[in-house]
Amino acid sequence: MCYNGSLTKEVLPMTMTEIIEKKKEGQSLSREEIDYFIDGYCKNGIPDYQVSALLMAICFQGMDEEETFHLTESMLASGKTLDLSSIPGVKCDKHSTGGVGDKTSLILCPLVASLGVKVAKMSGRGLGFTGGTLDKLESIPGVRVSLSPSEFFEAVRKVGMAIVGQSTELVPADKKLYALRDVTGTVNSIPLIAASIMSKKLASGSDCILLDVKYGKGAFMADKAQAEKLAKEMVRIGMRFKKDTRAEITSMEQPLGLAIGNILEVVEAIQTLQGKGPSDLVDLVLHSGTTMLLQAGIYSDAKKARSALEKNLDNGKAFEVFRSFIKAQGGDVSFLDNPEKFPTAIYSYPVKSLKGGYIKSIDALDLGLISMELGAGREKKDDMIDPTAGIVLAKKVGDYVNKGDLLLTPYTERANKRDLLSRALGDYEFSDEAVTPGPVVEETIRLVDGEFEIEKE
Ligand code: URA
Repeated sequence: MCYNGSLTKEVLPMTMTEIIEKKKEGQSLSREEIDYFIDGYCKNGIPDYQVSALLMAICFQGMDEEETFHLTESMLASGKTLDLSSIPGVKCDKHSTGGVGDKTSLILCPLVASLGVKVAKMSGRGLGFTGGTLDKLESIPGVRVSLSPSEFFEAVRKVGMAIVGQSTELVPADKKLYALRDVTGTVNSIPLIAASIMSKKLASGSDCILLDVKYGKGAFMADKAQAEKLAKEMVRIGMRFKKDTRAEITSMEQPLGLAIGNILEVVEAIQTLQGKGPSDLVDLVLHSGTTMLLQAGIYSDAKKARSALEKNLDNGKAFEVFRSFIKAQGGDVSFLDNPEKFPTAIYSYPVKSLKGGYIKSIDALDLGLISMELGAGREKKDDMIDPTAGIVLAKKVGDYVNKGDLLLTPYTERANKRDLLSRALGDYEFSDEAVTPGPVVEETIRLVDGEFEIEKE
C-alpha cells in the first residue's frame, strides 16, 4: 500500500519506499518528504511497517538541523496549538526528560507562579523506572488532571498555574509515532526525541520553555555528551519558533531528593514547599526557578531572583499557591495540611548498611526499577500503580554511615518482596575516603546571537 493523500505523485515524485531508501543511504529529507510521511501516517495512508523502516533508518543515519526542525514543524501541524494569549502575563513551561524521584514540577511550578510567572503545563504519566507528574498529582484524593479548556484557562488565570494531561488534540502525530517507536526499538534517537518533545511544548503555547535534560544511570540518557546534544537540538528548535528556550543539564546518577514513589514524593514536595526539602532537590528547584524568572523577564538579576525564590519557599507563599492549585483541580487540601492523612503501604522494610564508610554512589536506575516492582511504577502502559509504594532514602552520596545505620526503607502492598532488599543493598558503593557529591545542575545552555552559551556550575 502506498500513501495516496493530499501530496500525490504528480505534485511530489516520490513514494514512501523512495523516502526510506533515501534516508537509508544517509541523505537529507526535504520538508515536502517529511510532510508527506507525517501527513500520510496520520491519515492512516502509510502502513506501520513502512514508517517503522523509516524510523529505524533515522535512528542509524540521524537527521540534520533542518530535517529535525521540519519534522517538528510537521508534527506540530498535525494538530491544534493552544492559544494562551487571553491569559495575562508571561507563560512559561518546563519539561524534564524524567528521572528517578523527580518531583520538581510539583514544587517549581507553584514557586515561580508565586512570583508572577504563569504556568499552563501539560504533563505525562510514568512509564518504566521514571515516574510521571500526573500519577503523583492523582495520589492526592480528588485531584483531576483532565480539565475542560475553560477550567484550565481559568485556573491559570486565577491561581497562576495548572497541570493537566496532554490533550489528544495537540500533536496527534506524536501519539501515533511514539506508540510505534516504543515497540520497534526506535525511541532512542536524538532528532526523534527532540521533535517529539518540542512539538508538544510548542503546541502547548507558552512564551518560554525551560528544559531539564537529565543524564546518568537514572535517566533516559546515560551519557552526558548525548544529553548535551539533545539539549542543544531542542534549544535550537525552540529559538527558531521564537520562544525563549533554555536547557539545564542535570545529573541523575543518584535519585533526586529522598523519596521515590507517588505519595512519598508528594509528601516530600509539601515539605520542600514549606522550606524543609533535601538540599539537592532545593538546589535544582532554585536553579530552574531562577532561570524561569529571568526568561519571563520578572527579574533581570539572577541573585535577586534566587533570593526571592528562597524567600517564598520559607514564608509559605509557594505552598499557598500549591494549595490553591490542588483545590482548583478538585483535590482535598486537608491532605496537604496534614500529610499523615495519606495512606501508607502495608509493608515497610528498613534496609541497614552491612558496612561503614562514605557513600560513593547509589544506583538510581536499579532503585527506580525496584520501586516499580514494589508497585510504584508501570511496566506496561495499562498497569495500575500503587500510590503508597516506593522507597525513602535515609542517606545520599557523600553521607557517612556506620555498619547497621539505616540506608533506605522500601514500602509496598505486595507480599514476598523481601528478595528486593539485598538487591537494594547492592545498589550502594562505599569509600573510605570522603566523597563530595557534584552539583545537580551542571550546565545551563542558551542560544545567544546564533551561538551556544554554556554556563557551567
Ligand atoms: N519523551 C517524549 O516526549 N518523547 C520522546 O521521544 C522521548 C521522551
